Parts: sequence; C-alpha cells; structure tokens
Amino acid sequence: MEAGGLAVLLTGVGKRYDIVSAFARHAFVVAADPNPLAPAQYAADVRVAPPAMDDPDYVPFLERVAREHDVRAVVPLTDLDIEILARSGLPAFVPEPDVAGATFDKYEAHELLLRHGLPSPPTVLPGEDPGRYPVVVKPRRGSGARSIHPAADREQMEFFIGYADEPVMVQRLLSGPHFSIDLLCDMEGRCLNAIPRTMLESRGGESIKGTVVADAELVELGRRVGEALPVRGPCTVQVFRDPELGIGIYDVNTRFGGAFPAPMYAAPPGRTYPELIVRMAAGERVEPHVGEFTAGMTFTRWYWHTELDEQIRPTGRDAVEGGPRPPR
Ligand SMILES: Nc1ncnc2c1ncn2[C@@H]1O[C@H](COP(=O)(O)OP(=O)(O)O)[C@@H](O)[C@H]1O
Ligand SMILES: [Mg+2]
Repeated sequence: MEAGGLAVLLTGVGKRYDIVSAFARHAFVVAADPNPLAPAQYAADVRVAPPAMDDPDYVPFLERVAREHDVRAVVPLTDLDIEILARSGLPAFVPEPDVAGATFDKYEAHELLLRHGLPSPPTVLPGEDPGRYPVVVKPRRGSGARSIHPAADREQMEFFIGYADEPVMVQRLLSGPHFSIDLLCDMEGRCLNAIPRTMLESRGGESIKGTVVADAELVELGRRVGEALPVRGPCTVQVFRDPELGIGIYDVNTRFGGAFPAPMYAAPPGRTYPELIVRMAAGERVEPHVGEFTAGMTFTRWYWHTELDEQIRPTGRDAVEGGPRPPR
C-alpha cells in the first residue's frame, strides 16, 4: 500500500465498487453504508454501519470511526451527506457548507452559477413565466433523473407543476450534444484537472457510455466552475451544447460522477483522482495540471455481482471466468 497506508473513509458507498476499489489500491479504506449487503463494501478494508444521515449521531459516529482508524480524508459518494460533512470538523473533501447547500438545490445552483457569470439556462420558479417553450419541469432537490418532465407549452408545464408533490423549477429544455466534465479541486479550491466526456447514453441521470474528449472549451469551463464556487474535492458538471444558447450547465454535483471510470482511464499515470486525494490527505501540495489527460478513451458500464455465503462473505466464485475480452 502506498502513502504509508493512510486511511480514507468513504460514505454512502452503495454500489460504487469501482470508486472503493480505486481508493483501496492507494489507502486503507473504511466504507460506511448502513446496508449489510452494500456491494461496494467488498472492495474496502473495513465496513461500518452508520446511523441514518439525518440522525444526530451520524457525525459523532463518523468521528469515532475516524479516530479509531486515524482517517485523514473523508469522501462522500452520494449527494445526501455532502452538506452534513461540510458542517462537520471531519477532514472531508467537500465544499464550504453554503456551496454544498446551493449545489444540492438546483434552483440555488442556477443562481450561484449566474452570480459567477457561468452559463446556466433560463430557469424560473412555478408562477413565473418561462418566456419560451419547451421547458423541463424538474425537482429542485432531485437525483437519479427522477421526475424530470419536458413540457412543450404552458398547459403541459402547469400540469407537471401541479402533479409534483415537491418543490420544482422550470428550465429551458436544452438540446444538442450532451457532456459531463469531471474535475478535482484541492482544499484551496484550485482546480487540479478537468476531464470532459460525451454522454453517449445515460440512465438514471448517469452516463453509462461515453468517450473522453479533448474539448478545450469544456476543460476551461470545468476549471472555471471549480474555482468560482469553489469546489473542494471531486465535482461533475453536466452540460448541453445547445445550438441556440451555446453551453448550458444544468447540473453540478460536488462528488464523483456516475461515470467514474472515464477520468480514471484518461488521467495521467499516478494522477488519477483517488491517488491525488490520498496524496493531498498525506499533506502533499499537488500542482494543477488542467487539460493533461488522454482523450479518445471510451467506457461502457455494466452490472456485476458478488456471490456471498451464509455469513454474507464473498465466496470468490464468479459466473464468468477471466472478465471482458474482444469478441471472437
Ligand atoms: N434543462 C434541461 N434540458 C434538457 N434535458 C435536461 C435538462 N435538465 C435535465 N435534463 C435531462 O435530465 C437528466 C437528469 O437531469 P439532472 O438535472 O442532472 O437531474 P438529476 O440530478 O436528477 O440527475 C439529464 O441527464 C438530462 O438528460
Ligand atoms: Mg445530474
């Protein structure tokens, strides 16, 4: 193990086996997830079962875990506890609480982007006139592409606003090519790298097929978003290059994106985002190298499984031996 076996705590690990195993190559990994069957725990060194994130003991629990394992970095893998960690004294790679809060609410995120002169498409709240159609009606605190409804005219918009049982907003429907930019900032908000990829196919708001592209405009946009907010740790910026509006940012998540493999494949050797986080946690000052990556890599995401015995321990057995290979 590198970095002297420095310990990292990953929260809400769920199914993110790829992220947990990438950290586990460079650090001692403690995976937090209340679910005893969370698949990603099997890539970690230790699993802990924290109380619910809204339980008052959530942070004290993590603090006890952090003390026990001498944890030097905490990285949340879901949106749900970013702001909680930002308010804690834990060494978390998350933005300041106000930025974490604003990016969790897509309308506040829109206002935050505009304040920084960043391109967010026209967005209004229910009761305001969006001016032009088509629009999308979407939850302010949505995730996983839940309850996102395109509306062609006022009548459809009113229908979806009335149908929603949570706060929503109304945003211009963007079209054109669709991209995400995966970036990493240090604890001072300096952008270390920004790696754009196409969203060839997405499911549940996450791209499952994509290609890393050397698009200078998107690299620069990623850097600007990271440094303007500022971000601390990983962040994924989702955009369309709309034929009429140009670049429109429609979502900013201050955590690893769903397509975690893309920046892993594309990053320069020794500078994948998990490695950089571990090096920063060890006290190293990493120099920015924005734009240094290999374009052209494509990923296609798929499902796998872990067989467990009666004690829910992995049996080590696999349904298919040897993993992916070129077709015969
Ligand atoms: N303004 C928009 N114009 C067109 N499509 C959009 C817009 N906003 C969201 N979408 C579509 O909905 C998906 C999920 O949107 P997003 O805002 O990222 O929500 P979530 O956080 O729930 O994933 C996007 O990947 C995109 O396909
Ligand atoms: Mg999204």
